[in-house]
Amino acid sequence: MSKEESSPKKNVKKEAKSFLLQSPKGMHDILPQVMPLWDKVREEARQIADFYGFAKIETPILEAEELFHRGTGETTDIVEKEMYIVKTKGGDRLALRPEFTPSMIRAYLQHGMHRLPQPQRFYSTGPVFRHERPQAGRYRQHHQINFEIIGGESNPVSDAQVIIVFYRLMEELKLKPLLVQINSIGCRICRPNYRKKLVEYYRSQPVCRDCERRLKINPLRLLDCKKEKCEEFKAGAPSILDSVCSLCRNHLKQVLEFLEEVNLPYTVNHLLVRGLDYYSRTVFEIFLEEKDLALAGGGRYDYLAEVIGGRPTTAVGGAMGIERVVEIIKETQPNALKERIKPKIFLVHIGDLAKKKSLSLTEEFRQNNIPVINVLGKDSLSQQLEAADRMNSPLALILGQREVYENSIIIRDMDSGAQESVPLRNIIEEVKRRLKG
Ligand code: HAM
Repeated sequence: MSKEESSPKKNVKKEAKSFLLQSPKGMHDILPQVMPLWDKVREEARQIADFYGFAKIETPILEAEELFHRGTGETTDIVEKEMYIVKTKGGDRLALRPEFTPSMIRAYLQHGMHRLPQPQRFYSTGPVFRHERPQAGRYRQHHQINFEIIGGESNPVSDAQVIIVFYRLMEELKLKPLLVQINSIGCRICRPNYRKKLVEYYRSQPVCRDCERRLKINPLRLLDCKKEKCEEFKAGAPSILDSVCSLCRNHLKQVLEFLEEVNLPYTVNHLLVRGLDYYSRTVFEIFLEEKDLALAGGGRYDYLAEVIGGRPTTAVGGAMGIERVVEIIKETQPNALKERIKPKIFLVHIGDLAKKKSLSLTEEFRQNNIPVINVLGKDSLSQQLEAADRMNSPLALILGQREVYENSIIIRDMDSGAQESVPLRNIIEEVKRRLKG
């Protein structure tokens, strides 16, 4: 063995130099260049939440693994294959949340929120972790905006409101044309009948490998298969809408009527089942026409509270993926990013004295609520003016050695290039006047 091979310290040093560490696969940095779009989506969501009375709630990113086993469902892809598990020093098994819904209902139950006026409306946003195969629009860390209505009666108006809230949010974000797909997957009384019919039908079909498994563990998911081979079997499958009980049928009918009341276009898709176990009655997804990936999805989950050990509690909600929405905005609204960046007054300094002075001047502008920007690390006049141009600043204020001695400042209109010297004590008023004009 050579001396180098025998020294682990040296080997570590060598390896560390040879590659640059990257963010984990399927998890991305959100860089300052696109952050204005992320902020826009979150701000619109916040405003919509305020308008429709959804209160913001935050829950831990880590939850007991069991919450998702019981809540999301043992047979879902999420629980079977996609959870990130952390083993704590004390021996507990926690999961990085793969979705918000079980946490929302856990928090509602844990804090006795059934004692508050019903239903309670919640809004939440943050990262979600699923160990999926990364591909376009499908990441291992993605971010969601969730709206949930929990408690009270299993009222179809709440199902409609959740759909309306997501639809209006997407309209505000200028996503169009939107396609709302909706279905009812029945309740615990009528669904078993349908499941039986479906299994009977599928038993004789030469379905794909995955579907053979679905047939055994979660037959409804057969309708969700994306393989070409299974398309014709799906097309011939019995429709759940012919099997739901009169209560579920009536529930769906009313949801649709409420949507019609606000002129919200929808399509009933009897193949829509969603990949999570807790839904009952309404399920929905919202797409951008001609795109395969859903931007938002959700539904009613009246049994989830009981499944995680709580009192019977009705609930309905949904989630929108921020990454997918931001990607579409970037693709279809090339000016959206520019529109979000509010041009600021650019403060240019020449020389050390001016640099020092520009610090106190910046504070003065802040006190007057006028956004200014300066690049204190750059000292050349041309570089600073170039930066002002790039940032679309309407005005540049130039502070040179001479100006500092004379207590004046040059104000430059960045469009025309016209410059004028103004006494320093008048600069705030002068800028205000020009901004108004
Ligand atoms: P979901 O359909 O699994 O539902 O996710 C909601 C949305 O999150 C999707 O429509 C999509 O935009 C985005 N999304 C999901 N997975 C990924 C991924 N791997 N990469 C990027 N974006 C993704 C739920 O999570 C339910 N908890 C929704 C809900 C709330 N149901 C009732 N209340």
